[in-house]
Amino acid sequence: MSADTERITARAREIARQELERLNDNTKASERLFKRAVRTMPMGVASSFQANDPYPIYLERGRGSHVWDVDGREYLDFHSGFGVNVVGHAHPKIVEAIERAARTGVHFAVTTEVTIALAEEICRRFGLEQMRFTNSGTESTMDAVRVARAATGRDTILKIEGSYHGHHDAVMYSVVPNADVLGLRDAVEGGMADAHEAYATIAFSKGIPADAAKHTLVVPFNDAGAVERTFDSRGSEIAAMIMEPVMMNIGIVQPLPGYLERVRELCTKHGVVLIFDEVKSGATIAAGGAIERFGVQPDLACFAKAIGGGTTIGAFGGVASVMDIINNGAAQLGTFNGNPLSCRAGLVALTEVLTPDAYDHLGKLGTLLAEGCRRAIADSGIPAHAVDLGAKGCVSYRPEPLTNYRDFLEANAELFAASWPWMVNRGIFMTPGDEEQWTISVQHSEEDIRAYVDAFGEFCGELGA
Ligand SMILES: Cc1ncc(COP(=O)(O)O)c(C=O)c1O
Repeated sequence: MSADTERITARAREIARQELERLNDNTKASERLFKRAVRTMPMGVASSFQANDPYPIYLERGRGSHVWDVDGREYLDFHSGFGVNVVGHAHPKIVEAIERAARTGVHFAVTTEVTIALAEEICRRFGLEQMRFTNSGTESTMDAVRVARAATGRDTILKIEGSYHGHHDAVMYSVVPNADVLGLRDAVEGGMADAHEAYATIAFSKGIPADAAKHTLVVPFNDAGAVERTFDSRGSEIAAMIMEPVMMNIGIVQPLPGYLERVRELCTKHGVVLIFDEVKSGATIAAGGAIERFGVQPDLACFAKAIGGGTTIGAFGGVASVMDIINNGAAQLGTFNGNPLSCRAGLVALTEVLTPDAYDHLGKLGTLLAEGCRRAIADSGIPAHAVDLGAKGCVSYRPEPLTNYRDFLEANAELFAASWPWMVNRGIFMTPGDEEQWTISVQHSEEDIRAYVDAFGEFCGELGA
């Protein structure tokens, strides 16, 4: 660590201590709610991703680009429900759609016309021939993997190190593998000539059958050579390669020029079903997600989060030749699939709220935000960079852009740990983990962006001082 980095890191530790103390002093109602919640729910939350130390901030309501916590504190929402709320909170058109569903029936377990209309819109947007509904991103990737296995008659799947695809067993490997477990804390740079040796399949949770790991192989992102070597040696066993076309669970890692195209070619050559996990990128980084933005068409793509206008939904689909296996023995099921509540909200979100003008607005605000962060980083000389991708973007505390998971290990986690309470104390609501990113909604304004940039600029100033 250079003397400069040491000084900035020490300063970050001090800022984190002060800001957390201030945050804890001001969130006593959250602390009380945590003490109640932890009696009925492990970690006091509904999903472990919502937990925080010493307790999470519990929200009460949201409107437009704002949310309020249980202490009555108001924030600008850049967390956006882990990237779901691109429509913002309580958008009048979404409220109307949900009210209409409430009046006319929220659930039948029978396909309705609105379900069909949303399927048509999703197919149109993402260039899919056929699709099916699910209720979450996890179900979408789970069903896509099942369909790919059924269609190819093969069991093994290939995934990218550091990618999260939901919480079903097949993909719960090498998600954010602990660098110490990997034995790579000091060997992040180089020393990984053989991808199979270095990229072990590491379970992300207890409770996954030990021998299930043999069905999941792991390669680094942005390395088509590793995919080629794996396919050359084991291609005939591999049903699918599942990947986020742009990695979004370690900040944001963009595909290098030519990488996705080469992966596409290799999958075609070896008869491997290419699955894009667009749970985060779909309908956020462009109307047509990563498929539109990077111009590469997978065999199957998975969606959830933003496509439901804030309601619970998931979808996956792609070429009819692969989806056809659902007519021929592959089970794709779910009581709530395509329910009219989620489909009404989703249809209005995709056809009336997330219009071409909305994407212009999101793109403009995203660039304004990333450029503001870049200016603050340059002025203060802190080791960081900002990424700008439509409604999504982030600051990563490493000077150079990331190309894969190993680069993420080099990011300075202590700078993030200081930035989070700093921003929250100044009214900017963000996810408490450095693997996440901001999501802007159609209800955010330039003034909201300026508030973020000002708070971040002050943070950089403090850190660099
Ligand atoms: C890329 C990606 N895939 C899948 C999932 C799982 O989605 P869900 O939490 O809706 O099950 C997530 C969730 O964050 C995700 O980021």
